[in-house]
Amino acid sequence: MSKKKMSRLDLQKIKRDGQKVVWITAYDYWTASFAEEAGMDMILVGDSLGMCIYGYSGTVPVTMDQCIWHSEAVRRGAPNTFIIGDMPFLSYQVCVEEAVRNAGRFHKEAGVDAIKLEGGVRVCPQIQAIADGGMLVMGHIGLTPQSSGQQGGFKAQGRTAEAAKEVIADALAIQAAGAFALLVEAVPPEVCGIIREKLTIPVYSIGAGWEADGQLMICSDVLGIFQAFTPKFVKKYESLGEKTVNAFKQYAQEARNGQFPTEEHAYKMVDGELPKLKKLLDE
Ligand code: KIV
Repeated sequence: MSKKKMSRLDLQKIKRDGQKVVWITAYDYWTASFAEEAGMDMILVGDSLGMCIYGYSGTVPVTMDQCIWHSEAVRRGAPNTFIIGDMPFLSYQVCVEEAVRNAGRFHKEAGVDAIKLEGGVRVCPQIQAIADGGMLVMGHIGLTPQSSGQQGGFKAQGRTAEAAKEVIADALAIQAAGAFALLVEAVPPEVCGIIREKLTIPVYSIGAGWEADGQLMICSDVLGIFQAFTPKFVKKYESLGEKTVNAFKQYAQEARNGQFPTEEHAYKMVDGELPKLKKLLDE
């Protein structure tokens, strides 16, 4: 039986009931289908695909077209999961009109259920315009990789009282602008807890501790595929990178020494056809 896709109302109810929403990123068909099979509540087609799939050193080079292609594949892999498209750098910063048009592209071309964009007070006009366009928008504050240059790198945010006050102000502004949920990245658990107390919309954490309405993790981190660096908040549940290299090595060894392929992996000729072929070739 196929599972029922979450709606905004289900997400609110899960929060009211004190339960947790669990979600993960996915960038392709097969990861999305495994995520759906594993019962993930939501999938984010994150612009982290720039690092996890394309090997960029950050998310800034990622384009709208790349996000749309990957979101389409994820939608095909997880038809019954709530999917969030991630607005890439420069798809919403320039003006409100571009933000609405690009958010609309995610819905029209990739069939996502919501979009997410990074930033606090300064992107509230975009959040409001996209929400006014009838779309679900999730905010994303704390560490915001698209503006990591301004933040001095991929660094935890809100660790001093002054800095935490700013993060909390961003959270309140985002809710007031019409976001349906908020993602908080890489801030201390206490700060995320205060945000959650102050907001009525669901507040999700990635690296912001347990005082949240749910957790997001990057699929390549969970699986142990992403090798470039490991943030403090990551827990690796598998070591697929290592397992993949071992599988490739074993295949290479067997192919080189003739252990692969064998009869088991070969197509048989129809009975009696080989002698006929030989005769044909002798003529
Ligand atoms: O792109 C992404 O995967 C994200 C997470 C880092 C929150 O935005």
